[in-house]
Amino acid sequence: MTWHRLCAVAKLSDEEPLGFKVGDRRVALYKVGDDVFATDDVCSHAFALLSTGFLEGHVIECPLHGAMFDVRSGKCQSSAYRDIKAFKVEIRDGDVHVELDGDAALQTAGDGGVDVKP
Ligand code: FES
Repeated sequence: MTWHRLCAVAKLSDEEPLGFKVGDRRVALYKVGDDVFATDDVCSHAFALLSTGFLEGHVIECPLHGAMFDVRSGKCQSSAYRDIKAFKVEIRDGDVHVELDGDAALQTAGDGGVDVKP
């Protein structure tokens, strides 16, 4: 497991998830009040980015077919689709760090358009 810095916490705003690509993995960040959560960005049903979905409270709704996941746990709110992964998040010196499998390097900013460095 390796920690990756994704962006400054100040880049996040409520109800506007941001997507990042870390190696082969896509990660979505969500700010809910004073808390930040991270999950897989790709829906467990098909290829849709949850960071482009609709966040209400702690629930992200997939923009394609409407699956809903709790961003705290990755649990799907219905039995229709599989759960997604949720990742540990730490805020260090104002930056969001996420713990991921392996040591994939941060390659590019995701659809959130935030310019980040490894
Ligand atoms: S792709 Fe997300 S619910 Fe179908």
